[in-house]
This record gives sequence, structure tokens and C-alpha cells, in this order.
Amino acid sequence: MTAIEDAVPSAATGAALIDGKAFAEALRGQVAQGAEQFARSTGQPPGLAVVLVGDDPASQVYVRTKMKTAADTGIRSFPHLWPGSTSQSALLELIRQLNEDPQVHGILVQLPLPAHLDEAQVIAAISPAKDVDGFHPINVGRLSQGTATLIPCTPLGCLLLLKDRLGDLSGLKAVVVGRSNIVGKPMANLLLQANCTVTILHSRSRNLEDECRQADILVLAVGAPRKFGAGYIKPGATVIDVGINRIVSEDGKSRLVGDADTDAVSAIAGAVTPVPGGVGPMTVACLLKNTLTAASAAEGLAFD
Ligand code: GUN
Repeated sequence: MTAIEDAVPSAATGAALIDGKAFAEALRGQVAQGAEQFARSTGQPPGLAVVLVGDDPASQVYVRTKMKTAADTGIRSFPHLWPGSTSQSALLELIRQLNEDPQVHGILVQLPLPAHLDEAQVIAAISPAKDVDGFHPINVGRLSQGTATLIPCTPLGCLLLLKDRLGDLSGLKAVVVGRSNIVGKPMANLLLQANCTVTILHSRSRNLEDECRQADILVLAVGAPRKFGAGYIKPGATVIDVGINRIVSEDGKSRLVGDADTDAVSAIAGAVTPVPGGVGPMTVACLLKNTLTAASAAEGLAFD
């Protein structure tokens, strides 16, 4: 199964919709097989500690989805759902304990943390070997050197979809809009490693529309609901929409939309990821893949 075999033309025109949901399901199936082998060899399943501080509703939904999907894949979650008043020292002590716990192979601290906490210090406290988000400075450095094994989940998911759709990415012009540590910067690094010519655009960039229109691969990761329409798209381009924005539509109903105006983009693009059902499910599947990678490395096995 590949995403593009399942890709169907979008309603508006001929652009294919890249089915991230189906691709993620297949990937989770592979991870589940590896997790089962891991459990048979070691007598325990891969373990993922999930840390959430505070009651941000979106973060609560993401964390619940991650734990439920982990359970369905044969990965044991260790939830640590702590109040928004949690202190920096208490959180660092929790991370220290999780680093030493042999049942925990991966540690996920859901971001953003409440404003009074020092996010960078918390991330740096996670053992690089258990850093299944790939956010620790050591893993960021490895990614930039091309030696990473734990790669940030959303960019990894985007890369897998792109390779499935396009095969060899060498020489393609890739434009990444957004420069976050979670998506934009690691995405650009991965595309560079895949031999793309990479441009990163951000809020201060000039001629955004013209720059985007040069892209064979356009990755949108800014959180601007439906900002990117037909004028930003090169004919035939592959558009990866990382935005997940909740809006209230004219009928008063709340719904999720991406950074792309998907119908308008579909008139010009060759393929586009839908929201929901595109990149989102790949992020969760890649988290589980990274957990299996971390668990296997900890035991000197190769099940990922
Ligand atoms: N918040 C938004 N995306 C992510 C992610 O990929 N990992 C973590 N830990 N927090 C996030």
C-alpha cells in the first residue's frame, strides 16, 4: 500500500489527495509487528511516558490520541498528567526518574508547556536515547549532521509521504513556510538531506507568494487558516499542509482547516494533503515508530 495508490482526485479538480490516514495505518501495522517481536524477545512491551502539564484543550486531545494509538499498537503508555501549577524543579525530577526507569523507552513532553516553565531546560533534561520527539539539542545536532535516529515526528511523517508520492526527491526545489523547532527547521534539514534545494520562509520573508510559486514541494507550517491559495502554487506541485487550525464556519459549526485553501490549491497542484486526514495521523504513527526505535536500541535489537 502506498499513499498515492490510494490517493483520489480532490473534489474541485485533478489534484490528488494524499491519504495520510491510510499510510499511517499501514505504518502503525509495521510498528505493531515490531512491538510484538520486541515484547516476545524482552518480556515487556515498548514503553512511552507521556507528560502533559496543564489543561490546554488541544494538548489534551493530542495526548489522548497518542496514548490510545500507542495501546492499539502494542506500546504501553505511562501517563503523567500534571496540573498547570507544576514547578520547574518537580518536572525536572519527574524527567530524571523517567530517564532511569527501564520500562520507559521513550519520553514525550507535550508542548507548549505553561509560560512559567523553561521548555528548553526540560527538553535538555530528557535522555537523548529516550527523546522520541527528537527535540534534544544532541538529536537536533545529529539531524543537522545527517546521523539522527530519532527524528521529529511531524517532519518525518511529511518526508515519508513525499517519498511515497515522488520517489527520489533529488534536485527538487522545496519551500518550507515556517521556522519552528518542531516542524520548519527539522523539515528543512530532512529535505536538504534528501538532496532538495531548500528555502525556508517565515513571517519576515519578502515576496512570499512568488517564492512559494517556485516550489516543486511546498510545506506549509505556519498556523494561518486557509491563507495559501492558488496564487502560491506552481502547477503540478506537491503541497504538504501541516496546519491544523480550528475555525468557526458560517453555519456556526467548529471545524479543522489547514494553512492551505485546499479547494483553490487543488486547481493548480499535483497533489495535496487534506486536513484532517493528511499529516496529523502520520505524526502519531511516527511517534510510535520512534518509540520502537528507542526501545530496540536500548535492548541492542533491530525491530524498527
Ligand atoms: N506540540 C505540537 N506538536 C508537538 C509534537 O510533535 N511533540 C510534542 N511533544 N509537542 C507538540
